[in-house]
Amino acid sequence: MLCTISLFLALTGLCQSALISKSHKGDDPLLQYVVNNSLREHPVLTKLRLRTMEDSKNLMMVAAEQAQFMANLAKLIEANKTIEIGMYTGYNTLNLALVVPENGLVVACEIDEEYVKIGKPFFTEAGVEDKIDIRIKPAVETLDELLTAGEAGTYDFVFIDADKKNYETYYEKSLQLIRKGGIVAIDNVLWGGRVINPAEDDLSSQTIDKLNKKLHKDERIDLSMLTVGDGLTLAIKR
Ligand SMILES: C[S@@+](CC[C@H](N)C(=O)[O-])C[C@H]1O[C@@H](n2cnc3c(N)ncnc32)[C@H](O)[C@@H]1O
Ligand SMILES: *[C@@H]1O[C@H](CO)[C@@H](O)[C@H](O)[C@H]1NC(C)=O
Ligand SMILES: *[C@@H]1O[C@H](CO)[C@@H](O)[C@H](O)[C@H]1NC(C)=O
Repeated sequence: MLCTISLFLALTGLCQSALISKSHKGDDPLLQYVVNNSLREHPVLTKLRLRTMEDSKNLMMVAAEQAQFMANLAKLIEANKTIEIGMYTGYNTLNLALVVPENGLVVACEIDEEYVKIGKPFFTEAGVEDKIDIRIKPAVETLDELLTAGEAGTYDFVFIDADKKNYETYYEKSLQLIRKGGIVAIDNVLWGGRVINPAEDDLSSQTIDKLNKKLHKDERIDLSMLTVGDGLTLAIKR
């Protein structure tokens, strides 16, 4: 919408909130209010968000207020080692890298090198490129490599936001990789509302619904399902 002129307005910040509503809750005035009165975005994050808006797949980007919430959570638990499963252009990866300590880490999993190329210059500009370990390959392979390297129980925070068919595998491997008290955050758990009685041919909705129901009974974790964005589950390892 308005934001085809985003480049022009980027410097003034005028288009900032309109861009957020575009990719997330339409023109919901209450969400605008939330964003207007709580978003504190690092200037390089703003630049990366505006650059991402030029990409045709920009709906995939995490909502800025959700990314900020997760960065605050990571800070709260003093996260040092984190994993992003599905980096896209790296908005959330950059946000995490900005809150982990100097020797902290974000392992960023992504299969599409084109997206990585978009994000990387912004990591450098923000001065956090050394904290970000980008692995361009299927995320399951990366998680297996970390497990094989003996890193089980050493991560503090994982954000799962890649292909839905692998969600359960991502969850199980992430749970192994995090420490007690660590958090696995899972995105899109409401899948636009389609998780309620999913259609027979709707495999993504079925997969997510099945995982939601599994987590509800999972004694290995404490659990919250939040209605932020497209639904965000927090699984906290017991
Ligand atoms: C919803 S987007 C992620 C958005 C991102 N978390 C952010 O902060 O903006 C999902 C990403 O997962 C990537 N992806 C899909 N399948 C994957 C796989 N098997 N392994 C790694 N990445 C994958 C896609 O290329 C896409 O960039
Ligand atoms: C949010 O901020 C924008 C830009 O300043 C403004 O146009 C809009 O009216 C604000 N909306 C709310 C609900 O505060
Ligand atoms: C933080 O993670 C790095 C690896 O990226 C590790 O070298 C360092 O010891 C960790 N620090 C703490 C306090 O766990």
